[in-house]
Amino acid sequence: MTRSASILAIALVFALAGCSGGDTPVEHSASDRDAGHTSSSAGLPNGHIDAGEKLAHTKGKATGQSCVDCHGEEGNAPIDASYPKLGGQYYDYIAHSLQQYRDGNRTHALMSQQAKDLTDQQIADLAAYFGSRPTHLRDLHGVNN
Ligand code: HEC
Repeated sequence: MTRSASILAIALVFALAGCSGGDTPVEHSASDRDAGHTSSSAGLPNGHIDAGEKLAHTKGKATGQSCVDCHGEEGNAPIDASYPKLGGQYYDYIAHSLQQYRDGNRTHALMSQQAKDLTDQQIADLAAYFGSRPTHLRDLHGVNN
């Protein structure tokens, strides 16, 4: 390779690297970035079970309800059969669900209200707490409807 051809090749590598968008994943909307929100559980800070437990029992300002008011103690005793159990659910599943509700990608009249003001740290803490509880999750094998 001639000297000028190598310089061109190096310049091309830098140009391509520049197009990959740095450390902000492309799926982040401008409003997510402004709010300091991540949209993937992979980008969350470490969750703390103790902080998550406290928050799960704290009534939210907007609704006057806490997580356990609806999902029950340890997320395992929902007040309505149609409300999901959370105890022992995968950390990533809980965290990502909360991110999706918060960011409006998953919507539900009750849950969207619960999630809209959560910070990344709070989501990580709640996921760590509920994920650490005993699981009562089951598949629908043998259920007749
Ligand atoms: C007013 C009742 C209510 C409160 C309070 C509530 N939830 Fe929920 N939650 C629901 C309902 C109903 C659903 C199912 C919504 C749907 O179908 O998308 C749900 C769904 C979820 C899911 C998705 C579970 C799945 O299996 O997909 C997570 C995670 C969750 N809630 C966590 C929380 C956390 C954490 C809090 C407290 C910050 C909370 N919820 C407070 C009623 C509530």
